[in-house]
Amino acid sequence: MTTPRTVLVTGGNRGIGFAIAEEFVAQGHRVAVTARSGQGPEGTLTVVADVTDAASVDAAFTAVEAELGPVEVVVANAGITKDGLLMRMTEEDFTSVVDTNLGGAFRVVKRASKGMLKARFGRIVLVSSVVGLLGGAGQANYSASKAALVGFARSLTREVGARGITANVVAPGFVETDMTAVLPDEQQADYKKSIPAGRFGTASEVAKAIAWLASDDAGYISGAVVPVDGGLGMGH
Ligand SMILES: NC(=O)c1ccc[n+]([C@@H]2O[C@H](COP(=O)([O-])OP(=O)(O)OC[C@H]3O[C@@H](n4cnc5c(N)ncnc54)[C@H](OP(=O)(O)O)[C@@H]3O)[C@@H](O)[C@H]2O)c1
Repeated sequence: MTTPRTVLVTGGNRGIGFAIAEEFVAQGHRVAVTARSGQGPEGTLTVVADVTDAASVDAAFTAVEAELGPVEVVVANAGITKDGLLMRMTEEDFTSVVDTNLGGAFRVVKRASKGMLKARFGRIVLVSSVVGLLGGAGQANYSASKAALVGFARSLTREVGARGITANVVAPGFVETDMTAVLPDEQQADYKKSIPAGRFGTASEVAKAIAWLASDDAGYISGAVVPVDGGLGMGH
């Protein structure tokens, strides 16, 4: 049994974020999710936030703090893809993906760090992707934004590591969610052939790794990149 914490998961209304929030609830934590629309799972507090907007992130934290107390665990999960080959990738395709995936993590973690520094405790988990380190044709924007999270987490570790705060990256492989459902069947079959486990992962498998990184048992793990990818990214 780990100490019950106040947890905030961004993008907790569907997909991996929803599963992460469910897992933290199941483990007895006080859990809030941010959503632009919809709701988090049962037992969570849903607050509205767009991670591209610092004021909206600030308001969401203020609402969570009022209801559940200072945020001790933050999971920067909200993310988007806008895939396309480089020659066809627009400025907007690039900047919007970087601003959501990397800029969003920056805004959320910066806001969370206030309370964590005061409490001299915190767990920061950034949801990256196997594509961050492996690369992906047609995903220059997404891959760059996800690789950058590694430098971000490692810099945080150096800055705040001595204050009881850890910052880690979880790098899922292909996970069954809306994000992968849009891939053509043929592409999905090709991907499965390259995954040693021979299948896509589940959101719950990602959630369990994240909950463990936030637990009391993982207090000496920081700056790590933890793959949850069935072996797809080995060596990267
Ligand atoms: N699925 C995979 O195979 C896979 C693999 C590796 C990594 N990941 C990463 O895992 C994370 C979750 O992915 P998923 O598959 O669960 O994706 P998803 O089903 O598409 O859900 C994405 C979540 O992010 C939220 N979001 C997007 N832009 C946002 C913004 N500007 N402000 C606030 N929330 C925003 C969405 O909110 P709305 O509902 O309002 O759009 C939604 O809750 C992402 O960071 C993704 O890159 C996924």
